[in-house]
Amino acid sequence: MEKSEVPFEKKIFVCTNGNAGKNGCCGARQGVEIFQALRTIAKDRGVHPRIRVAQATCLGQCARGVNVMVFPDNEWYFAVTPDDVAQIAEAHILADGE
Ligand code: FES
Repeated sequence: MEKSEVPFEKKIFVCTNGNAGKNGCCGARQGVEIFQALRTIAKDRGVHPRIRVAQATCLGQCARGVNVMVFPDNEWYFAVTPDDVAQIAEAHILADGE
């Protein structure tokens, strides 16, 4: 094993889990589309992978999905829809993308 500093300034985790349990799942609520839209914005802005948008395979809050968790900003978005992508991108990608 080797060790280094975290190689990203920021991680934006979007739950894309498609295995619905009794509380549903983010994948069935357009989690993949939200992930792809945020990743595309980060790439188009040229900040990926410094600001990395990553898929999560369940963040443990399935009933409130789609869930998005942002480190180190310490913010959690739930009930996210594709209509919210621009607002999340503005707050966590575009604002820090200079
Ligand atoms: S499926 Fe997204 S939090 Fe569990």
